[in-house]
Amino acid sequence: MAGYISEDSRKVTTHRLVEMKQRGEKISMLTAYDYTMAQIVDGAGMDVILVGDSASNVMAGNVTTLPITLDQMIYHAKSVVRGVRRAMVVVDMPFGSYQGNELEGLASAIRIMKESHADALKMEGGEEIIGTVKRIISAGIPVMGHLGLMPQSINKYGTYTVRAKDDAEAQKLVRDAHLLEEAGCFGLVLEKIPAQLAGCVARELTIPVIGIGAGGDVDGQVLVVQDMLGMNNGFRPRFLRRYADLHTVMTDAISRYISDVKTSDFPNEKEQY
Ligand code: KIV
Repeated sequence: MAGYISEDSRKVTTHRLVEMKQRGEKISMLTAYDYTMAQIVDGAGMDVILVGDSASNVMAGNVTTLPITLDQMIYHAKSVVRGVRRAMVVVDMPFGSYQGNELEGLASAIRIMKESHADALKMEGGEEIIGTVKRIISAGIPVMGHLGLMPQSINKYGTYTVRAKDDAEAQKLVRDAHLLEEAGCFGLVLEKIPAQLAGCVARELTIPVIGIGAGGDVDGQVLVVQDMLGMNNGFRPRFLRRYADLHTVMTDAISRYISDVKTSDFPNEKEQY
């Protein structure tokens, strides 16, 4: 079987991610939202599993990430944590759970950590949320930043196109990246920005920078698991590499099952008691 399995079976920590950046080892990160998928992703040797608020899209069928609640994120996070042994589990703080004020953000963060037993949190935003980021980190909770395309702000942007193409937005992004590092974030996700800008940020920061649609000149990559497995036929952005066509594989298997039930081929004598 082709693939890369780390010989290091120890649990991945924030410290080990920084070491990986220092020695130039790329960091692999993928989403998961349930126990069965988490077991598969972790067993394959993933470094970081993200319980993304993209669960709102791919698990619940919402158009945006905005509707998912804190309780629903905790449910997904608990399911994932039960399936993981080695990977670091990072959970997205959902829209509305931290933008209000620092204490509300801290209370939401503590709930996720206490109830899910995850390892860390991810939050979208820079300067606007820096007080809350510091407050959460001061409570001993590791935080990963998220800049560039921030899906929780889709109603402000109005589109999912590439961010930070103009100088003003690029400069703000670089400033925000430094602010997040200074605040104590252990890592940063950069979503859908020019590859050259992402590469500059990754070189300037000492913390690992993980890209999605941000080119290869960063410290690691993250994708949504359903997208890279080809389960969502309609979603084919330029940055996505599809490693399987599970939509076809699953549709074929399910069709054969339907046919076997209809023709009474299933179950046969060996498949009964
Ligand atoms: O929610 C998510 O899946 C994410 C990734 C796209 C980085 O935030």
